[in-house]
Amino acid sequence: MNATKMCKVLLAMGLAGGLMAHPQISGGQTGASSIGTDDATKGTERDDNENAGACEWQSVDQPDGARNGAGRKCAKARPLFEQGKAIFRFDTFGDEDYWGGKLQLHKAIEGTALGGVGPGVSPKTALTVAGLKVDVDALPRDLQMELKRGKVDLDSPATTLALLKLNAVVGVKGFFGSGGGSLSSIGITCAICHSTVDDSFAPGIGKRLDGWPNQDLDTGLIVSLAPNLVPAAEQVLGASDPATINTLKKVLLSWGPGFYDAEVNIDAIGFRPDGKSAAVRIPAAYGHLGEDLHTWTGGFGDVTYWNAYVANLQMHGNGNFNDERFNDPAKYPAAVRGSFFRLRHTPDQVTPKLAALHYYQLSLQAPKPPKGSFNAAAAERGEAIFNGQGKCAECHMPSLYTDAGYNAHTPTEMCIDSFQADRGPTGSIGSTMVTPQLKGLWARSKRGFFHDGRFPTLLAVVSHYDACFNLGLRPDEERDLVEFLKSL
Ligand code: HEC
Ligand code: HEC
Repeated sequence: MNATKMCKVLLAMGLAGGLMAHPQISGGQTGASSIGTDDATKGTERDDNENAGACEWQSVDQPDGARNGAGRKCAKARPLFEQGKAIFRFDTFGDEDYWGGKLQLHKAIEGTALGGVGPGVSPKTALTVAGLKVDVDALPRDLQMELKRGKVDLDSPATTLALLKLNAVVGVKGFFGSGGGSLSSIGITCAICHSTVDDSFAPGIGKRLDGWPNQDLDTGLIVSLAPNLVPAAEQVLGASDPATINTLKKVLLSWGPGFYDAEVNIDAIGFRPDGKSAAVRIPAAYGHLGEDLHTWTGGFGDVTYWNAYVANLQMHGNGNFNDERFNDPAKYPAAVRGSFFRLRHTPDQVTPKLAALHYYQLSLQAPKPPKGSFNAAAAERGEAIFNGQGKCAECHMPSLYTDAGYNAHTPTEMCIDSFQADRGPTGSIGSTMVTPQLKGLWARSKRGFFHDGRFPTLLAVVSHYDACFNLGLRPDEERDLVEFLKSL
């Protein structure tokens, strides 16, 4: 399919999803941000998309072709992109009904002094312990100045509330009482896990980087702070006595920064057989255009499948969802407890957003490595090994760096255990792992490599493959291969 056609297909999907008919698409009944709603109604300009070259590949990242000189404007792509961005960043899909309404997480953020429970969460704790990020562009100039001068109290939960009111905490949306006073609920968005900031203002404070995994975010710790874990324990573990709540907390606290377990609440498996955490690295949400299957195991489906899965089953948004594979009490007892195989909500706050979200997801490109972060001559030698003796390109096919076609393999092919692979729904070749695309590796390497971070360095990955595939690489060849991986 050529680029123009592809763009048209994406646009058609957006229109089929009824996006243009929903001016309140990113706000809706959730009271979530209304950013992008203007664009949604403006998207009725006609016919530009019928022109050849209206939606060139080069302009996918920034569909406003006029701006980057890539050709004509893609009139409908731009609103779709902006809607998708607003949803990705700001839409909670109504999940505040769960995080605030049921788990009462907002009370733990407020703390006793402000009407909640416990010590509260100060900005310092939010940034350094929880790994949350602050969007500098959401901070008014005078506040930025005061921050620079050290005049802002970073030890007070009241400051966290002020930041939430400014919509400045990446991926976290505060809901405030009608008087504008205390926090009445809290919701999360895709950006909490799949965006970070560039630290340009201070550590943890900077400009948003969508698609980059938040490698510092301790999701398990954050959830464990919730004053009421009963609804979570009932659904995940089927009971809510103190011992079960304790088990749930143990599972949550085993994850650590940059990790999350998106399957424990369907299969109720909290730990690997060897006792280690069952969580996986939060993957990059960039660089996925052109890929077939998604997530670490691939058995679930593609990007848009997974977006619906996460919005409904992980974030607990109020949407509709079907997956009859989860109606399996033996493999997915927790999913059965939550009726996750068939969810219905009125209104459905997820489905109308999937097309724009898909479009935005696929437009996120992998970031280029910083200058000087690798040795160019060694990388060039490494590339030859990657495509030749190393046999890497057998699966990581340039320029996608995943397989063209069916991009999943049995774990034995990579000489690894099948624990994670077995958790996903299995296809006709049994349990699999997806070949992850390798671009922008440098921006997701803080937590090691492979789904669970088992290899601490790229050299450890290469040595593993050397042994697994019996490649006979010399140490200098292994090092060259590593430089190539760093250059992607
Ligand atoms: C609490 C953290 C968290 C949130 C919130 C979250 N994700 Fe994810 N996301 C993950 C993790 C962890 C995985 C890997 C899951 C697995 O393979 O088991 C993942 C996987 C993905 C993938 C597949 C990436 C790949 O390598 O194939 C996409 C795409 C994605 N998420 C998009 C989204 C979107 C869109 C949203 C919002 C609707 C979202 N995620 C919300 C943590 C999160
Ligand atoms: C048989 C297919 C196959 C071959 C051949 C292969 N890989 Fe992989 N690669 C995979 C799969 C599947 C994974 C995911 C494994 C996991 O997460 O458990 C992976 C993961 C990786 C990762 C980790 C990415 C991340 O984000 O954690 C790197 C780096 C990598 N491979 C590099 C290479 C190199 C270098 C070679 C050649 C020496 C190679 N691969 C050969 C399939 C393959």
